Amino acid sequence: MTKKILTLAGDGIGPEIMTAGLEVLQAVAEKISFDYSLEAQPFGGAGIDAAGHPLPAATLEAAKKADAILLAAIGSPQYDQAPVRPEQGLLALRKELNLFANIRPVKVFDALKHLSPLKPERIAGVDFVLVRELTGGIYFGQHILQEDAARDINDYSTEEIRRIVRKAFEIAQERGKKVTSIDKQNVLATSKLWRKVAEEVADEFPDVTLEHQLVDSAAMVMITNPARFDVIVTENLFGDILSDESSVLLGTLGVMPSASHSEDGPSLYEPIHGSAPDIAGQGIANPISMILSVAMMLRDSFGETIGAELIERAVDKTLSQGILTRDLGGHATMAEMTSTIIGNL
Ligand code: IPM
Ligand code: MG
Repeated sequence: MTKKILTLAGDGIGPEIMTAGLEVLQAVAEKISFDYSLEAQPFGGAGIDAAGHPLPAATLEAAKKADAILLAAIGSPQYDQAPVRPEQGLLALRKELNLFANIRPVKVFDALKHLSPLKPERIAGVDFVLVRELTGGIYFGQHILQEDAARDINDYSTEEIRRIVRKAFEIAQERGKKVTSIDKQNVLATSKLWRKVAEEVADEFPDVTLEHQLVDSAAMVMITNPARFDVIVTENLFGDILSDESSVLLGTLGVMPSASHSEDGPSLYEPIHGSAPDIAGQGIANPISMILSVAMMLRDSFGETIGAELIERAVDKTLSQGILTRDLGGHATMAEMTSTIIGNL
């Protein structure tokens, strides 16, 4: 059956890296006979321009009907003073589609090891997956701002914790069989509940080891010994912070994809980097995060493991051939990098 893919190109470099991602998708689809159709909708700043809202009603409708969603990037300084910001569209989309599980693989590429701000012996062997709860916690609790006081409520139910921790265990089962659950159990009630539920879930997965770590010390370990992580699972706010920390380990934002899953609806795939308005339209953006997001989509939404691996290996080979965009220290344009990746498929 034809798979319906919704594309949200968004702002800044979004449209150009989306083009690169779709070229790679088309090339790999021909090889593996993957049958798909594309629909594009405005989102983020482009949504504000087109319909006055970062998540226009038609975009949300299309998202609900899609089999998977590819998002490139949103945000631009021109909306800094706007009544609704592009980012609010992203939060609304996560909530509307119930995208509770944000998955970010962090893996060092041999050809890019030298870019890491860490010493070579610390970055060697880094290969973990960060699983962030994405639709609960303080992000979606009550926010009360008064003249002389403010309050944000951090809410978690056992069910919200259970489903995200299960997701982490399922991922760990296919990898190194270790889950590190990160909380602030020495202070927060939500974290005490989190730890208890994590223990219960661990009983369902006897082949996977569970360890707990407090978020402050986890932030240190991520710098001093990141290779010891296999799968990390944590709540929304800690995950927001730790995922940015994890993204600097590689020394570039340009090569990391992500996925956000719901229980049974469409998943969303996007680069972890932003819309880089300063280099938009110049054809020099690094398309790899977008291209690897396409690979994640093929594997996670459509079970096209071979297609995903073809893309991942082609990216690896391209990097080791020294075809590098400027952010990676080279001179390749986006088009050169994309066509080399397609040639290497
Ligand atoms: C992210 C971003 C978002 C978040 C912002 C844009 C609301 O930082 O995806 O990590 O905080 O979740
Ligand atoms: Mg963030």
